[in-house]
This record gives sequence, structure tokens and C-alpha cells, in this order.
Amino acid sequence: MKKKIFLAFCFLILNIISNKISSQDITLPTPDRTGGKPLMQALNERQSVRTFTKDNLTLQQMSDLLWAAWGINRPDQKKRTAPSARNVQEIDVYVALPTGLYLYDGSSHILKQIHNRDIRNLCGTQDFVATAPLDLVYVADMGKLGKKEGDEIKDSDLLWSYANTGFIAQNVYLYCASANLGCVIRGMVPKEKLAPEMGLRKNQVITLSQTIGIPAK
Ligand SMILES: Cc1cc2nc3c(=O)[nH]c(=O)nc-3n(C[C@H](O)[C@H](O)[C@H](O)COP(=O)(O)O)c2cc1C
Repeated sequence: MKKKIFLAFCFLILNIISNKISSQDITLPTPDRTGGKPLMQALNERQSVRTFTKDNLTLQQMSDLLWAAWGINRPDQKKRTAPSARNVQEIDVYVALPTGLYLYDGSSHILKQIHNRDIRNLCGTQDFVATAPLDLVYVADMGKLGKKEGDEIKDSDLLWSYANTGFIAQNVYLYCASANLGCVIRGMVPKEKLAPEMGLRKNQVITLSQTIGIPAK
């Protein structure tokens, strides 16, 4: 019996190592790709919301939200729910939760923990940002566009990355409208303070941030 438990434990550890899943990562449930409100109704209800209850989203809501935002919808081609110029897919979606900062890994549909500090207060300059349950931070990995650390990154280099971010953010708006959640996309982000707290390289650029929560009545 003891031997069996020991072998099961070894198997679990090996599995964790081989999948590079750390115990702090959040494995999201399978997203629900059906249902929701009809598209025209979701468009009719899309709006920016800035007052939220303190309630957290459920794991299923987080799963559906992230899949709608930037999940893989055609696994055979590794393509996603939002378009990206030349299919470079340089936008990374970071998730700031009370339990820490995570990176959304679309291919395994996992939130990979970056660290366990609550940095929501740095994700925006408006008061609700620090207390809403979840902030998404969109980051353009300019390394995927050939920029090395230390290379100059001009505003014009970021035009497509801002457009690509907009498509993801609109997916989030429509999911939120469909799921009776609230959100707001934000450009007012203290990027100089936030980037080091996220451990970003110099060739990773924060584009926008988006707060999500349950709307206060
Ligand atoms: C690029 C961009 C940046 C924005 N930045 C902020 C922001 O920093 N803070 C905020 O509260 N709203 C921000 N908004 C949301 C707009 O204020 C909002 O979309 C506008 O007032 C229209 O309201 P609606 O989204 O409900 O239609 C931003 C919207 C966009 C598209």
C-alpha cells in the first residue's frame, strides 16, 4: 500500500515537472464554448463599468473570459479568438489577482504564476482598479517582432500591437456583456511603475489594461 502511494506521489511530481506546472499555477476548467447571449444582444448591452462588488469571479468565469479574450479556437493551426497582424500573436495577457500575477498560457489554458504579490493597485490610476477582483494587463512582446532588449521601440512600432490589443479587449467586452459581468478598458496605466513589478524585459511593452468584475447594482 505504502509503495503504491509512493509511486503515485512520484508520478504526480514527474507529471508536474514534465508539464512545467507549478503548484501555484491555476489550471482553468474547460471553457464553455456554447451558449451565452446572442451576439446582437451582447453588442446592445456592451458598456464600460467602473463600479464592482468585491466578489471574485468563479474559475469557470475566468476560464470562459480568458478563452473568449485570447484563447485558441483552432488548435490544429494554433490560431485564436482574436486576430493579430501577420498572425505574430505578440500580445501576452497577464492577469493580476489578489493571489498574485499570472500569465495566460492559451495553449494549455493555464494561468502560470509569475509571483504571489497583489499588484492590482499598480494596474491603473483609478481607485476601483485596486479593489476589483481582476485586472488584465496587455503586453506586446516586441521580441516576437525582432526587437532585442535595448533596441529603441518607437510609437510607430507599436501601432499594430495596439490594434491587436483592441480586438482582444473587445472580445472581453462582449463576453462580459454576455455573462452579466462588467469591465472597462483603460489607457491610464502607470506603466513605469507597473512594468518592473511584473518583471517585464525592456522589449516587452504594456499597451492597455482592463478591469473585470461583477457590476455593483
Ligand atoms: C483606448 C481606450 C482607453 C481608455 N482608457 C480609459 C481609462 O484609462 N479609464 C477609464 O475609466 N476608461 C477608459 N476608457 C473607456 C472609455 O472611457 C469608454 O469606452 C467611453 O467612455 C465610452 O463608454 P462605453 O465604453 O460605455 O461605451 C478607454 C477606452 C479606450 C478605447
